[in-house]
Amino acid sequence: KLHGRREGPLVGLRVLVTSGPTHEPIDPVRVLANRSSGRQGHAIAAAAARAGAEVTLVSGPVSITDPKDVTVVRVETAREMLEAVERSLPADIGVFAAAVADWRTDGAPQKLKKGGGGPPALSLVENPDILATVAGRADRPRLLVGFAAETENVVAHAKEKLARKGCDLIVANDVSPASGVMGGEANTVHLVSADGVESWPAMSKGAVAEELVERFAASLGRPA
Ligand code: CTP
Ligand code: CA
Repeated sequence: KLHGRREGPLVGLRVLVTSGPTHEPIDPVRVLANRSSGRQGHAIAAAAARAGAEVTLVSGPVSITDPKDVTVVRVETAREMLEAVERSLPADIGVFAAAVADWRTDGAPQKLKKGGGGPPALSLVENPDILATVAGRADRPRLLVGFAAETENVVAHAKEKLARKGCDLIVANDVSPASGVMGGEANTVHLVSADGVESWPAMSKGAVAEELVERFAASLGRPA
């Protein structure tokens, strides 16, 4: 199904967004997951659609509603998210807002029981890095945007990630418990790119999404 409006700064462009957490099964009833409401990623997908783009949103498990005029692909695990992302390429803009679980376990086929033997030892395996994988592909989106949710040294970590992941922009934010960002409506972000660092004042996640989409359009030479 094709979405996309006929006008707006992103008309004719394909935008791929990841959002939400991933859930890595420990057993059929338990998961390993990151905290993520999906609010910021979903807001970006919605804003890109309003700007005229054809938007695919690959979302982990979230409780919020689907954005309007967006093709939504639901996944559970990091490996499923990577598969869905690769199937959704090519795209002009890739925005990787998902809080991907860095590790998974083997996933026991039956529910683990407490028994008497003490807690189970979980052996963890590293998940694929979706953003870095896409950055290395021949059909890499022209504009590749990553996120960095940090609890300390926000900008320093974001600069390191910009280089390590091979993306064009990192949207970094402070998610320490005192910041109130996790699960909340507001966000305070720092834009880290080759041009330097730009810090925005606290705004709603919807306003951050609108401003980011304007940036994306401008950086692809699309005046508003
Ligand atoms: N990301 C991804 N796939 C992963 C891990 C992260 O696509 N397996 C993406 C996120 O969606 C985000 C960016 O990479 O856009 C940075 O994620 P983050 O968790 O901050 O970076 P990591 O490299 O996993 O570093 P760490 O968690 O150790 O800080
Ligand atoms: Ca991580």
